[in-house]
Amino acid sequence: MEIQKPRGTRDFLFNEMKERKGVEITMRRIFETYGYGEIKTPVFEELSLFTTKSGEGIKDQIYHFQDKGGRDLALRPELTAPVARMYIKELQKTTKPVKMYYFGSCFRYERPQAGRWRQFWQFGCELIGGKSPGSEAEVISMAAHCLEELGLEDFEIHIGNLGILRNILKDANIQGNLQDQVMGVIDKGDVKELISLLENIDVDDNSRELLLKLIEMKGNSSIVKDVEALINCSEHACNALFELEELLESLEAFGFSNYVVNLGIARGLDYYTGTVFEIYVHGLGAQKQISGGGTYNLIEIFGGENVESTGFAFGFDRVMDALKKQEKFIEAKSSVDVFVTPIKSDLKLKAFDIAQKLRKNGISTDVDLVGKKLKKILSYADTLGINYVVLVGAMDIEEGNVTVKDMLTGEQEKVKIENIVDFLEHKLGN
Ligand code: HAM
Repeated sequence: MEIQKPRGTRDFLFNEMKERKGVEITMRRIFETYGYGEIKTPVFEELSLFTTKSGEGIKDQIYHFQDKGGRDLALRPELTAPVARMYIKELQKTTKPVKMYYFGSCFRYERPQAGRWRQFWQFGCELIGGKSPGSEAEVISMAAHCLEELGLEDFEIHIGNLGILRNILKDANIQGNLQDQVMGVIDKGDVKELISLLENIDVDDNSRELLLKLIEMKGNSSIVKDVEALINCSEHACNALFELEELLESLEAFGFSNYVVNLGIARGLDYYTGTVFEIYVHGLGAQKQISGGGTYNLIEIFGGENVESTGFAFGFDRVMDALKKQEKFIEAKSSVDVFVTPIKSDLKLKAFDIAQKLRKNGISTDVDLVGKKLKKILSYADTLGINYVVLVGAMDIEEGNVTVKDMLTGEQEKVKIENIVDFLEHKLGN
């Protein structure tokens, strides 16, 4: 019987792992350049961490189970709530803002399709305790910087502010769960469903018209004035709009102006309070959203201090898909530079000895362990892009030498065994 991998999961082989590693290293470098430090949290958490804010309904979308001790646990569907939990226990006394980044797998019980997995990876950050237009602008600029550094083209960063929509709903007397339900439908982008929901819950005509107009507002910074004219009467919604204006001003100073103001962004997770943003790459079809984030207040909900925070996460797998689609290949270079092989099997111990000497000096080296024919080894080294093959032959050894073959030029050179490390280090530019 062949055992299959679970639905919605993947295996990653060597080349794919190298490409993923290349992207991971770039993201790490950029996040660290902006002063973020890496953290790690458990893959499973208490179920209540995810139901406290979102309600029991979220259980349909996550993997949850009881362990042998009867504890209700869940595989994390995202990392913002775990980071907030960790912050309350470990970091509340630390000088703020606290800038953290993470790379880890998440699990959601979803219908798998291209770009949507049951196990997927997020690369993200949380900036806790620094709500200001500057923090939000820095986080958005860093996301754009990462994608530019990876060579991704045609990505769009859409920025909105939930305070505008939520306050219009509040003025129309739609609050609590009902408000979350409306925001959920706006997030789905299904206008028909929204109209019928608003009819069902008896929203007055003016508020309904205003809401339907607002979620269609998209454009550059100049649309802020149009929105202001639209929401003219609502004081709280106007405050949220000023927040958005301030953010756009800060973004200008961070040198990033290639955004789309989009008031239809509602975000699927319900902990956001103000600024929200999503990044799209259109060639990816339905799963075009490669990143999402915004400002939220989870810490207080979990019993910590009242401290607003901001963050975002790249859907790492979707970033990989986007890069592949645009043929931005991250070089899958061989991780082995040298292959050591005995010409005859009675020299294999000598070959092991030389390979170890190279490895202990930091040269990545493979060695023939099973007595393959030389021809096979050379073709193997060629396919893997290995730079040098060290041939260990009886006559050479008698004279204290080995022969080094340059796989690119085909040239061969005799080298004294005691000089082999220096020789290869020099050749490899180490
Ligand atoms: P999210 O939008 O739910 O936000 O997830 C972030 C990203 O993960 C999405 O934009 C998407 O690219 C990717 N993603 C989500 N579900 C899947 C899936 N099933 N398969 C593949 N990729 C997926 C959050 O999770 C927030 N915690 C982000 C955040 C951090 N907000 C503030 N700080």
